[in-house]
Amino acid sequence: MIAALRAELDGLRAAAAPLEPDAAARAALMDQAFRHAQDFLADLADGPANRPWDEAFADRLEPEFAEAGRDPAAVLAYLGRSVDRPGITTASPRFMGYIPGGGLFHSALGDFLAAAANKYAGFASAAPGAVRLENATIAWLARLIGFPDGAAGTLTSGGSLANLTAIVAAREARDPDGGGAVYLTRFAHYCIDKALHIAGRAKAPRRLIETDAAHRMSVAALAEALDRDRADGVRPWLVVASAGTVDTGAVDPLAEIAALCERHGVWLHVDGAYGGLFMLCDEGRAALAGIERADTLALDPHKTLFLPYGTGAVLARDGRVLLDAFSASADYIRPLGESEVGPSPADLSPELTRHFRALRLWLPLQIAGVAAFRAAQSEKIGLARYFHLRLSEMEGWDAGAPPDLSVVAFRYRPARGDADSFNDRLLRRLQEEGRVFLSGTRIGGASWLRCAILSFRTHLAHIDETIDVLGRTAAALQAEEEK
Ligand SMILES: Cc1ncc(COP(=O)(O)O)c(C=O)c1O
Repeated sequence: MIAALRAELDGLRAAAAPLEPDAAARAALMDQAFRHAQDFLADLADGPANRPWDEAFADRLEPEFAEAGRDPAAVLAYLGRSVDRPGITTASPRFMGYIPGGGLFHSALGDFLAAAANKYAGFASAAPGAVRLENATIAWLARLIGFPDGAAGTLTSGGSLANLTAIVAAREARDPDGGGAVYLTRFAHYCIDKALHIAGRAKAPRRLIETDAAHRMSVAALAEALDRDRADGVRPWLVVASAGTVDTGAVDPLAEIAALCERHGVWLHVDGAYGGLFMLCDEGRAALAGIERADTLALDPHKTLFLPYGTGAVLARDGRVLLDAFSASADYIRPLGESEVGPSPADLSPELTRHFRALRLWLPLQIAGVAAFRAAQSEKIGLARYFHLRLSEMEGWDAGAPPDLSVVAFRYRPARGDADSFNDRLLRRLQEEGRVFLSGTRIGGASWLRCAILSFRTHLAHIDETIDVLGRTAAALQAEEEK
């Protein structure tokens, strides 16, 4: 019986051997994957920012999941053809739609090393070194913001989860029984809505606060709403301010909002997923004054620190609020959990087992150095100002408000016809042509285009090219309409 079982186990072990390539096979695979990535990166300089994707769906490995392993070269070729090429090339220097992500090569190496070692970064006692890096990275972010020593936080999968984590902490701290009112503007990111819904506060009284001509929250309107609610017996709970909206990049007047929140005892959550990390450069710090007075803050290193997708961060001025909301235990966990390297990520967020995210941020900070990040951020803000100035001087364009950070919302004013449908067509034409990728939004019911400059690969020549493409495309469209 035992002998038969041993023979069966030996057979299974042999069948599972492809899961553990030997050193030579690992080196060969690595070499193939590395060359694949090099080719992809080399194409970015001249390749378009958007390619048609319809054919990608027809192209499948057949069968997609086979019993026997495939030649890695064939699998990589499939990825190159059907995944890397079609659709928006978010790693392109000409991708300036939505909020661009990054894709630092050092972070790819960090992910590789984290996955190869697979340290357990949920609890400090399981991987003290890994959790120390998580906490050191969080402490660096908190210092950047200007939070005090008692601050804590954790790296999340992105800005939506960072906002959700903060809103749950704010609920536990100030609105455990519900009924408190929420204040935000129409430019708050829609993940705030989702977060309130998931946190069980979808029906919280919600006040949409007016914005000023630069699309920032009106402090006077917020003060009025808070006073009105107090007079009506409604308890103000949560103000959600934006440190850079998606639509226009506008930064709400954070210092004045913080002062109001302090006076009224209201929780201030700042969504800094797009803009908060511009605190690293002088221009950003000037625009973001007051952010350090937030109770909780959502950040997105996969935007403004140029990381690949999959890294957000939530910070709380008083780290105890995260522990109160998320720390838990169980009999089978108990030997873990105590540590000398500070709190464990598992005690600060809903996650338990998680990717060792810090390495993808810590490694580029070590290898490239902080100054390179600061310079890249200043460059992005400078490029947005340049784009806005150039467009302001071009006939037929409304360059919109000067950018607070690195997003410019602008539109074309056609000599004749409906401006909204013209701008919609212009955007569609630009996206279909795909050389540069911009996106759009609606402001006050009107169609606007947006140029969001946030890739570390985007430089002056790309902005000049974008201006040329815009001028050329608008003129062509106008000429077609006049025929
Ligand atoms: C201001 C703002 N908040 C929240 C989010 C959501 O972040 P994520 O897409 O990382 O979940 C975004 C994304 O663009 C954003 O710009």
